[in-house]
Amino acid sequence: MNQSTCEPDFFTKHVGGPAAQVQLKGAKMGLFTGKTGLVMGVANDRSIAWAMSESLFAEGAELAFTHLPSPSSERRVSRLVEAQNPKLVVPCDVQKDEDLERVFKAVEQTYGKLDFLIHSIAFAPPDELKKPYLQTSRAGWHLAMDISAYSLVACSRYATPLMPHGGTIVTVSYFGGEKVMPGYNLMGVCKAALEHSVRYLAWDLGREKNIRVNAISAGPMRTLSSAGVPGFDEMREHAAEKACLNRNVDFKELGNTALYLLSDLSGGMTGEVLHVDCGYSIVGL
Ligand SMILES: NC(=O)c1ccc[n+]([C@@H]2O[C@H](COP(=O)([O-])OP(=O)(O)OC[C@H]3O[C@@H](n4cnc5c(N)ncnc54)[C@H](O)[C@@H]3O)[C@@H](O)[C@H]2O)c1
Repeated sequence: MNQSTCEPDFFTKHVGGPAAQVQLKGAKMGLFTGKTGLVMGVANDRSIAWAMSESLFAEGAELAFTHLPSPSSERRVSRLVEAQNPKLVVPCDVQKDEDLERVFKAVEQTYGKLDFLIHSIAFAPPDELKKPYLQTSRAGWHLAMDISAYSLVACSRYATPLMPHGGTIVTVSYFGGEKVMPGYNLMGVCKAALEHSVRYLAWDLGREKNIRVNAISAGPMRTLSSAGVPGFDEMREHAAEKACLNRNVDFKELGNTALYLLSDLSGGMTGEVLHVDCGYSIVGL
């Protein structure tokens, strides 16, 4: 093939031209080299946010982390991330505006900017999920919606000033936000609010700010959060049985999808909910 008709290679296209290729010979370059992100939602090494972090670290990203404000959360997350030596690992309860303000101020002081934000946070009181949706309490509704849906709006608002030249935001949803999944109940309604927030945020942030907002709708994964969903193991078995690929998705596949959504590879995409569920959601059976 004539040289001039060749497709430019991956790094030339997405990392930055021939100079980047020259640098590649001496130093390790990745898709995210020089990019800084804040990861909200790592609880342990089974967290979806941790799978995303591992993929991002492998591509050279600089990551800051938040954890729930408790000594055990701090210990667990600090231990998990220490090999990567992140500059910032800070406590944050997304229900508290003062925590959000402090976290994003610390990001600004430490890095001066943010290229991307991962929001991988949800909570509903376990008792609320055990009863029929009809019996959802007002207090349970407010708490679950605040942590699982409103927090994306608040975090996006705080992140925006740190992304003056554009950026990307990714959150994590579940199919129970589109269809009834018995047992998922109140959390399904939170995911519906989260997914529609993705679309409204994509509109608000896309025009002048060039910030893209997308969601991954992940297949069922065994994590700390999913342990609180009644009948979760049966849901997982059923999903694997029905999915086009006849299996459940794995953590690495979710992590790598985050690479796509957070990088220029998905540059023309915003306001989307991308199903990473081995094709479960397209089957009507
Ligand atoms: N596990 C699954 O099957 C599955 C499937 C689809 C979507 N999701 C979604 O993925 C996201 C991550 O969940 P996961 O499964 O990795 O479980 P996880 O328990 O590892 O992560 C949930 C995170 O939410 C954080 N969190 C809860 N309340 C908070 C608060 N007030 N302030 C700050 N952080 C708070 C927890 O500290 C934890 O880090 C959630 O939005 C969840 O709904 C999970």
